[in-house]
Amino acid sequence: MPDNYTYDKDRTDAERELIGWSERYRELKGAAPLAYVHSYGCQQNVSDGEKIKGMLARVGYEFTDDLKAAQLILLNTCAVRENAEDRVFGNIGSFKKLKENNKELVIGICGCMAQEKQVADKIKESYRQVDLVFGTFAYRDMYSMLWEVISKRKRLFNQSESCTEIDEELTQLREDKLRAFVPIMYGCNNFCTYCIVPYVRGRERSRKPEAVISEVKGLVESGYKEITLLGQNVNSYAYGFPKLLRDINDIEGKFRVRFMSSHPKDASKELIDTIIDCEKICTHLHLPVQAGSDRILKLMNRRYTTEKYLEIIDYARARDPEFSFTTDLIVGFPGETYEEFCETKDIIKRVRYDNIYSFVYSRRSGTPAAKMEDGISDKQKGLWLRELLMEQREITSQWLGRFVGRTVEILVEGEGRTSDEYITGKTDENIIVEVKGDKKYIGEFVKVRITKAMNWALCGELEE
Ligand code: SAM
Ligand code: SF4
Ligand code: F3S
Repeated sequence: MPDNYTYDKDRTDAERELIGWSERYRELKGAAPLAYVHSYGCQQNVSDGEKIKGMLARVGYEFTDDLKAAQLILLNTCAVRENAEDRVFGNIGSFKKLKENNKELVIGICGCMAQEKQVADKIKESYRQVDLVFGTFAYRDMYSMLWEVISKRKRLFNQSESCTEIDEELTQLREDKLRAFVPIMYGCNNFCTYCIVPYVRGRERSRKPEAVISEVKGLVESGYKEITLLGQNVNSYAYGFPKLLRDINDIEGKFRVRFMSSHPKDASKELIDTIIDCEKICTHLHLPVQAGSDRILKLMNRRYTTEKYLEIIDYARARDPEFSFTTDLIVGFPGETYEEFCETKDIIKRVRYDNIYSFVYSRRSGTPAAKMEDGISDKQKGLWLRELLMEQREITSQWLGRFVGRTVEILVEGEGRTSDEYITGKTDENIIVEVKGDKKYIGEFVKVRITKAMNWALCGELEE
């Protein structure tokens, strides 16, 4: 059970019933009921998945990676692009056999896709093996829904948007003991014309700074070394984001802080100054530009121009010439011409990102862009994406060269990818470093002298 769980606090009837059920299950089968929980999509969703697991652990579930051994399968889904949704439907299809072999199995779909009415309807009609579909607002009702399904073998669908308060009582079950995600806000108010997120996650709600700070303190005290603050646009945090960063920086202990995402329209010079001034805040900003053409940015409803965007970059680079940036890019927004796509290539050359996350535009029904005229084929867009990635590869391999000969600090995260004599970790800038070294360093900050820059990562030697 999660560590900070207080026994019998505010326990609902359904929660009590589930505990009774799992105890009887344990007596009968000699083992706890097992749940398979998988989260797709962004870190926000992974963080929600940790809350769901915390709730399940509280009523006696244990966890498995083996679908065949599970009594409960819960897919916490992402709706941001069509291929993410297709993958989930493929998986649900394959669960039919599991259900035939185990009549007691409960199959649930939750998260962003499950918030969409047309997805819930499709599952209701065509995927009868699924028992439970609930959206991103319904976690706190999970016990009563689950108990209804188990005790009455009913199918339940919950796409309500009624609950907008933030539930500070939900306890996470974090798998990683080194790095933790801490949401500071939920939802999005920006309505970029291509994006489904505001429709499936509702309006912005910020957690109180006291709640965030006390969670971070607790995590640092229990040994976490890297905290990532999460929000769709942390720059519109209701209680002032730079102030929150400074307060977190003042927490005692050796740890580092990352955050994402930052909307460029709200990124301020104060934010850059805070990052540079605060020792524990990594000197790295993920600043999604999405496109390099002002006409396309306008059609996307991004509410900044490339000039405004570059002002922030230039301000940061004037203070620290090597300030690290990463970005998100969309290729082939409806109506984008090849010339406009080339402006995206220009911007990545101008900024010199350490890394880019680029996606072919995916039509999301219900968003304004879905109704826009789109003359370019997906095949063509795929070729543009390849072109963009080739360009970035060049930039990354050259730009990473700046580290060669220097000593950097990395947080060692695990065994190396290249060979088992190696360990791997990340720099402040979030760049992977492979280094020959003992596994005893996993979980520690170490100093490494960089000897080589590869296309995607750095190599180095431990400094004693
Ligand atoms: N809130 C964050 C922001 O504005 O930077 C990003 C959230 S979104 C989950 C992550 C990325 O997915 C976006 O930055 C965008 O590049 C991409 N994305 C969102 N909708 C998309 C769509 N319809 N097609 C392709 N990529 C999309
Ligand atoms: Fe989507 Fe734009 Fe909100 Fe990011 S800011 S989640 S891209 S609507
Ligand atoms: Fe995240 Fe996907 Fe939802 S990116 S907010 S899980 S639509």
